[in-house]
Amino acid sequence: MIRYNKNTRLLVLDNKSIGYVVYVNDAGYLETLYFGKHLAGYSDFSCVRNNGVYASPYYDVARGEERTYADGFKTDAVPLEVSPHGLSDKRGAPVIARGKEGGFETDLRFRSLRRMKGAPAIEGLPHAHGDCETADVLLEDKNLRLRAHLYLTIFPDKDILIKSFCLENGGKRPLRLTRAMSMQLDLPRADYDLVHFYGRWAKERDYCCAPVTDGVQEISSNYGRSSAEENPFVFLKERTATMDRGEVIGFNLIYSGNFKFRTRVGTYGGLHILYGINDEDFEWKLGAGEKFYTPQAVIAYSDAGVDAMSQTFHRFIRENLMTYAANRDYKPVLFNSWEGCYFDFDTDLILSYIDDACKLGTELFVLDDGWFGARNSDAAGLGDWTVNEKKIDLKRIITHCTAHKIKFGIWFEPEMVNPDSDLFRAHPEYTLGWGRNELSVSRHQFHLDFSNPEVVENVYRQMRAFLKEYPVDYIKWDYNRTVAEHVSAAYPADRQGEIYHRLVLGFYSLLGRLTREFPKVMFEGCASGGGRFDMGVLYYCPQIWCSDESDPAQRIDIQFNTSLGYPLSAIGAHVNDSPVASYATKAALALFGTYGYEMNPGKLGKEEIDTLDKMADVYRKYHRDVIEDGTLYHLRAPYEGNTMCMQCVSHDRTTSLVLFMNKLKEMDVYRFVRLRGLDARKRYRNTLDGQVHTGEYYEKIGLNFSTTWMSEFTHGLVLLTQEK
Ligand code: DGJ
Repeated sequence: MIRYNKNTRLLVLDNKSIGYVVYVNDAGYLETLYFGKHLAGYSDFSCVRNNGVYASPYYDVARGEERTYADGFKTDAVPLEVSPHGLSDKRGAPVIARGKEGGFETDLRFRSLRRMKGAPAIEGLPHAHGDCETADVLLEDKNLRLRAHLYLTIFPDKDILIKSFCLENGGKRPLRLTRAMSMQLDLPRADYDLVHFYGRWAKERDYCCAPVTDGVQEISSNYGRSSAEENPFVFLKERTATMDRGEVIGFNLIYSGNFKFRTRVGTYGGLHILYGINDEDFEWKLGAGEKFYTPQAVIAYSDAGVDAMSQTFHRFIRENLMTYAANRDYKPVLFNSWEGCYFDFDTDLILSYIDDACKLGTELFVLDDGWFGARNSDAAGLGDWTVNEKKIDLKRIITHCTAHKIKFGIWFEPEMVNPDSDLFRAHPEYTLGWGRNELSVSRHQFHLDFSNPEVVENVYRQMRAFLKEYPVDYIKWDYNRTVAEHVSAAYPADRQGEIYHRLVLGFYSLLGRLTREFPKVMFEGCASGGGRFDMGVLYYCPQIWCSDESDPAQRIDIQFNTSLGYPLSAIGAHVNDSPVASYATKAALALFGTYGYEMNPGKLGKEEIDTLDKMADVYRKYHRDVIEDGTLYHLRAPYEGNTMCMQCVSHDRTTSLVLFMNKLKEMDVYRFVRLRGLDARKRYRNTLDGQVHTGEYYEKIGLNFSTTWMSEFTHGLVLLTQEK
């Protein structure tokens, strides 16, 4: 899978499906020669190297001004793995370091290469694991004495390439890293569309697609979290690519903080991509002998359209990223108290919620915000993780769940503090930015200084004490504001550029410690809905609350778009009481996620209870094999028209679930949807019209939803089962 030929200096990473080729040139730069579908041979790349755009008109070749090497490498026009900084290559380097003279030149050149089994362990950061191989390419800047390990990881069974750096100060004086991104990828062509997911609270991950433009484009977050405003999942697609055709290259970062994905169409037309930690307000002091690990950038390649890329990411996340041991087990039907009663509850109300929730097939009851400290509104209590016994009897609530044979879960927001809390009164210096005249408040709360290990330790002890006393099965980990005043009293002036990243490291250290110590507890990520929906969180949490917007009017888009990059098993989805759609429609949508509820269950009528309970049965029966372990196809995109359709096919291709939805009221329109992924020769009965057809029939002709009048936000949920 990984071969390096010392004579030709070609490094080839491949599996049966994709190939990646790098040439170590005479100057010691790594030229990226090929990334794409697997080729039969990887020997002759002369046409890629001699691309005719080398000679700069400003060189007087006769006077020997042009620096040339025996292998013809001359200037900055060549696709590279790691561009230098401060030299004539102006496309942008992934790594910039400053030494004692203060200059910015960073020129990393090849030293050696070794192959290793598995993926590198990235200290302090979530990372990929499993059956794979890594090329560890050592580069060095001799002046700075900076060593950079470029890790390139490839899997035998997935069209995935992972890139990251370990930067090491081999000198005796500190270095200042002013940019430490995870990867550069240079492609010889730039005629792609760039798709990214833009948004805000309750409208996360809007699909945005536009041609890559000349010059620089940036998709980034500087909110301190991966953010609702942009998601780290982005992809490039050939202009003509569709869900099932064409070249698509997907990118994601195993990271939850500030990120930057930057494209630059170079002077000569190629595409230069940098991806990693956002270098805005970033600077890292790297002491002698110290190392800095960048997060891993994950690249998925497809020559068969968007769905093949998204399926690759789904499998990668479930098989090579998540660490929650029971990730592949059945996940219980969840009832969350938040939208039903917000902060306004007592023990009796929660007990009655549990009784009513059980009528809906609930298997895990979650008590959301409001159970601790002086938390009767969002103005107080964050930071004080002890049960408010005046308000609730938590042991009784847990016992009640046990009596109903259901699990119990609870809400935390560990990285925050309210000014009105015992923690803040005792330790105001634990607040991020403390010492400033005026700190910005958001939702009446401050951000704790998680760059300070003492602060993390304090919260750890509180949470650990709670978990030792109360046998909970689940924790919802919320994060309801973005970072401001990113200055820490725990660090000197010359280290303040580290704070954004250190906050993320503090978050991972706490979450990592707790998930290791309490491996049976399932943690679900959340950040004002889906403000931190990323691969970093998924390493620890097998699911993330997708959005505070459960109303299908928006939710159709949010869920569909999220599932382009993330598996349905990770997408927290609940039925709530929004009036726009029927309970049946809302439940069908939640089925294509992790099914749950969030409303006052006492207000449901008998018919609604029956509808939801029946859908819980469908979930129990089919979710694991068809939705979680199955293959997802995006048949109709809601951003392209009035309808949305997704289909899941079980691994053995015996069963499939199809969800069709419309937005505006419509009749008398053809609504044929061609299915995918079925076995062409097998015969399947469908629950739409009860007919039996072959897989080929469904793929060529499709299901016909046009017989049905469709008013606003209605749906068709169709089960196809193989006829014996
Ligand atoms: C924001 C979350 O997205 C909600 O689900 C809920 O947990 C609230 N926070 C509680 O404060």
